[in-house]
Parts: sequence; C-alpha cells; structure tokens
Amino acid sequence: MTIMPVELALDEFIQFPVDGITDNSTTDFELFLKISDHCVLYGGSGYKWYRRELTDLLKHGIDQFLVRPEDHARADMYRQLAKLPFVEKNLAPRERIVRIEQIGAEFTKCLYNGEITQACIEKASDLAGSMIDCIAEDPTCIQALTGLADHDYYTYVHSMRVGAYTVAVAIEMGLTDFSRLQEIALGGIMHDIGKKEVPIEVINKVGALTDVEWNQVRSHPSQGARLTESSQLSLVSKEIILHHHEKLDGSGYPDGLQEAGLLTEVQIATLADVFDALTSSRSYQQKRSRYEALDFMRHKMVGDKLADEPYRALVSCLVAE
Ligand SMILES: [Fe+2]
Ligand SMILES: [Fe+2]
Repeated sequence: MTIMPVELALDEFIQFPVDGITDNSTTDFELFLKISDHCVLYGGSGYKWYRRELTDLLKHGIDQFLVRPEDHARADMYRQLAKLPFVEKNLAPRERIVRIEQIGAEFTKCLYNGEITQACIEKASDLAGSMIDCIAEDPTCIQALTGLADHDYYTYVHSMRVGAYTVAVAIEMGLTDFSRLQEIALGGIMHDIGKKEVPIEVINKVGALTDVEWNQVRSHPSQGARLTESSQLSLVSKEIILHHHEKLDGSGYPDGLQEAGLLTEVQIATLADVFDALTSSRSYQQKRSRYEALDFMRHKMVGDKLADEPYRALVSCLVAE
C-alpha cells in the first residue's frame, strides 16, 4: 500500500467499487482513497490484488476507491473483464471448448470496444490457459466448434476458434511446452485485433469491396501490430498478429513474405484462420462443411499457400473419432 497525497479536486475523481476488484488480478490504473477531505494514492498501476486485502478493506468500511478521469477507460475495461465468468473445469472437453469459445467471444467484444490494457492481456492469457488444458486433454474436442454465428458476432467467435484450432494443431504436431502454447493461443485469440480499426460496415459488407475498402481490410494486420506494439505480448504472438495473412508463395500481405520468413507458429495460425473462414457463414459466402473445407484447402492451397504439416495435423484432429 502506498499513501501519497494528490493535488486534484475530489469531484474530478470517478468512483470505483472495491467489490469490482477480483482476487488474483492486477489493476492497470491508479486507485485512490478519500481520506477526510483529500485523496491519497492507495495502489499504483500494476498493483496485484488478493482476496484477503479486499476482504479487509470491506471489513473496515472501505467500499469505494477513486480513479482519475484519464484512467476511466482502463478502469471501465477492467470492470467489464472482471464480470466475465470463469470456465467451469469439470466440463468434458467438447462442452468446455464451446464454453471457452462463448466466454472468449464476450472477451473479444470488450477488446474491440475498448482500449487494449494489461488487464486484457491477463484475461486473454487465462483464456489461452483454459484452452490449452482442454485441448491437451482431447485434441479432437475442436470438432465441437462450428462456424455458426451471426454477422456481428462472427468476428468475436472467429478469434477464439482460430486460437483453438491453432493450439490443437500445435499439440498434434508435438508441441508440449505450456508457455510456447500460450504464446500461440494468445496470437490466435488476438490475431484480428487490428480489425477494430476498420469500419464495421466494411467488415460486414455484402458484395465487392472498393479499392479503398479493400485497402482498409488489408491494413488490419499492421494495425493490430501497432495496437499491440507496446503490450507484453511475446514475439510469437505479435508475429501471428502481423503475418497471419502471408502465404508460403509470397502472395499474401502485408509484407509478401515467403515460407522461409514465416515462423511455423504463424503458418499454423494462417491455416487455422483459413479453415475457420471457410467453415463459417459470412455475408459473402455459404458455409462449407468441415470436409468440403479441408478438401478445398488440399486442392487449392496446401503446398503453395498453406503448409502441409499443420494441414495434416488439423485433419487428424478433425476426423479422429
Ligand atoms: Fe485477419
Ligand atoms: Fe482472422
């Protein structure tokens, strides 16, 4: 606890309830306490919370902190994320992965509508951890994910499914290191975050895009890289965000990289992204079945655009009984 008087009029602060803070979380904004007629800093940005301290505060009648106006957006994001439910661990993998997809979609929605804060990265890491545990238990559980979603919801569930497919492929290819899997899962969950900078009418447009609109869409990997540049995401996660639209033959964007320039983790995420796009109904396309999508990929993309080994790993997760 840090006590520090602050020169700011009391009415400029915004209230933040103590019971809005969750156990084992970090607040990425400053929290003040009102003591008589002035304000003191209680916890600086990065303060780690445990249940005991929160209970003690409430026991002593302290139920409100104060937040500076410039921290309002961060505090609001923290509060929204704190309301998201936890994944029930006792569910069977196929039910659990669907639950992770649903909670993750709500999380991604918050992410698209607010600032990307440290609290967001923590929540994404939690979800990534649950995703890895679930898929490591049964990699075929991803069969329970379908491409069903209405337009607006698509972007949110798509991100989670790409995360799940990416993890399943990586595990199937023999990766067991949890922190590496978590970097991959985070890359998958956040891969399209740059789309929050593209107008929603363009994302959901039915019919051909104009050159300007197409350029807006194609800017999303670079926008995502810019938005997450100063975050604590790892290099692997950031590479997935920036290069998930590259293709092995150099025909992708934004950098036209070829196979040698693309990390295996990025190649896996690209494959997962294509698979989910093909198996989802969108404004401009009919949903393909899992088998039609795999067949299309094998004939049109695997080898020159998409990597073969991750493709085979995806097939074995999806067709295994
Ligand atoms: Fe994308
Ligand atoms: Fe995507």
